[in-house]
Amino acid sequence: MNAEKIRLSLDKEIKIIAVKETSSTNDELKRLALSGERDTVLFVADSQTAGRGRKGRSFFSPDGTGIYMSLLIHPDLTPEECTLITPLCAVAAAEAIEGVTGIKAGIKWVNDIFIGGKKVAGILTEGSFTRKGADYVIVGIGINLSRPEGGFPEEIRETAGAVAENASELREAVAAETVNRFMHHLKDIKSRKFIRPYRERLFFLGKEITVITADGSYRATAEDIDSDCRLTVRTRSGEIKALGSGEISVKI
Ligand code: BTN
Repeated sequence: MNAEKIRLSLDKEIKIIAVKETSSTNDELKRLALSGERDTVLFVADSQTAGRGRKGRSFFSPDGTGIYMSLLIHPDLTPEECTLITPLCAVAAAEAIEGVTGIKAGIKWVNDIFIGGKKVAGILTEGSFTRKGADYVIVGIGINLSRPEGGFPEEIRETAGAVAENASELREAVAAETVNRFMHHLKDIKSRKFIRPYRERLFFLGKEITVITADGSYRATAEDIDSDCRLTVRTRSGEIKALGSGEISVKI
């Protein structure tokens, strides 16, 4: 990706590092944070050889068709408030995709972005925390803008999708706008302003879902999102539960 093109579209000046290939942009910024970097830094790569997803999964990161980027920030937030950074970033990425391409993007709680029933983007937030707050936070964002040549690998062929057929030339614009929207929402994170646009994009509210926990799974109706971005569900026996993202995932 062209760092200069990204820079020109950013609302605020930040350090940008752009490379052709790396193992993982999150790992690059972790090394930088541990070496004492205190500025906000954006790291972008054309491809990743060991892109990581949540729950120890890998993130398919072929050359040229996707955005693989991470942002190093040092927010003045409690560890609890930091849990909101991931859903906040999902709103930012969805707004950026919509703003640049005109294509409506939905969010699957907590942080997957869907278009046409397929996952087109994911977010992996990592950081170093003390009891008082965050030392640093790295927000990694992967967006499949176009379908890779040869398609997606077998394991994700059913679930993964791309934003559009020929959107690769929009990589810099979508990347910059994601950062702009992220910074915009981050300054208001304590007042939870992002919850409204987040809720508007959740596509399964009011629907029956399967809640998967460490002890098994159950069916429930997805009711709403609370101000801490927990998902409230009504079980079949009528009990209302508020689910944190930690150990629970949902299937629609
Ligand atoms: C997920 O869907 O589980 C999260 C995927 C996050 C992928 C991005 S790509 C840029 C950054 N570097 C990584 O190694 N992972 C994130």
